[in-house]
Amino acid sequence: MPRLALTKLTLSHIRSHKTARLDLDGRPVAIFGANGAGKTNILEAVSLFSPGRGLRRAAADEIARQPEALGWKVTGVLQSLHQVHEIATWAEPGAARQVTIDGKAASQTALGRIARMVWLVPSMDRLWIEGADGRRRFLDRMTLSFDPNHAENALIYDKAMRERNRLLRDQVRDAHWYAALEAQMAQAGAAVIDARASAVARLMSAQAGARTAFPVADLSLDAPDGVVWADTEADLAEAFAESRPRDLQAGRTLVGPHRIDMTGVYAAKGTPAKACSTGEQKALLISLILANARALAEDFGAPPIVLLDEIAAHLDADRRAALYDEICDLGAQAWMTGTGPELFADLGDRAARLEVRDDGGTSVIAPG
Ligand SMILES: Nc1ncnc2c1ncn2[C@@H]1O[C@H](COP(=O)(O)OP(=O)(O)OP(=O)(O)O)[C@@H](O)[C@H]1O
Ligand SMILES: [Mg+2]
Repeated sequence: MPRLALTKLTLSHIRSHKTARLDLDGRPVAIFGANGAGKTNILEAVSLFSPGRGLRRAAADEIARQPEALGWKVTGVLQSLHQVHEIATWAEPGAARQVTIDGKAASQTALGRIARMVWLVPSMDRLWIEGADGRRRFLDRMTLSFDPNHAENALIYDKAMRERNRLLRDQVRDAHWYAALEAQMAQAGAAVIDARASAVARLMSAQAGARTAFPVADLSLDAPDGVVWADTEADLAEAFAESRPRDLQAGRTLVGPHRIDMTGVYAAKGTPAKACSTGEQKALLISLILANARALAEDFGAPPIVLLDEIAAHLDADRRAALYDEICDLGAQAWMTGTGPELFADLGDRAARLEVRDDGGTSVIAPG
């Protein structure tokens, strides 16, 4: 079966890890160890094989091991469908993150094309309750796994919007200054919204009829109250032009894809996700991650690499066992963390096990 998995990973001066080398075989990876041992740091390192700032959204310099601050590097051997690639990403102090694929300089987008990846981290436990930003980021990460160009469109949009916001703050009123930026924003913004809408549709179809222990999350995309919904290039261009007077007062752009929110409903109960119990809210997120994996297995040819930090929290023993079964059935390389090995007992030999401990400020990884 074609698959997507890291078969080697080396860490160099990244967070609490000085140097580490892991040999893996494509099975899921269960990582256990005490608080502060360095488990999440391993997942963060893997997440840097995906476009963007990784699962902590940290700047390149924050990731460098302190106090040395020499810069950091992560390398891997990635099996992506029928090909094997040597991939590496690193940053020198004060410099931007770089990427190579098979020894040649590559863009983050190119890496995203071969290393499809999604994740769940504990800070997402409040995703349905807190602001729209977190939900949008979660959706964008899934969207990116379907459509590697999504990150580039989002960057073009953000860059043009930042320039437009500067004009607004400077109280520039000349329409000429706005038109070119708004045209760029409309073009990139329509692509961003289109990719998100396709991802939502695909997640819904992948949830429908799936045999899973996790509840279906009905998703929809909305503009906040008082903000017009615009999704085509022409409608967005018009919405930006019409919004100028209000935007001038606010000092920022009030319409566009950066305002869109994703709402979720626990389908079987008809309850909005934000009104569900903590465990139910988590189950909805897992349901979406699993749907993403099923969809990519069909559309791309293999499920994504899945990073599940502290996945056992809030899951009862039955749900946990069901999650492990579904991950193994999908053949996804899931990287999972937990404080003790007992949390992964149900996986048996279906997963590789790593024990992480802290040795005087340096993390040490050993087969568990
Ligand atoms: N840039 C850095 N340089 C050196 N150490 C760092 C750096 N950033 C974070 N650390 C340290 O890494 C250690 C391990 O962090 P990590 O988040 O991986 O722990 P964990 O095993 O996931 O713990 P928990 O179970 O509490 O989530 C922490 O003690 C933290 O202080
Ligand atoms: Mg952690």
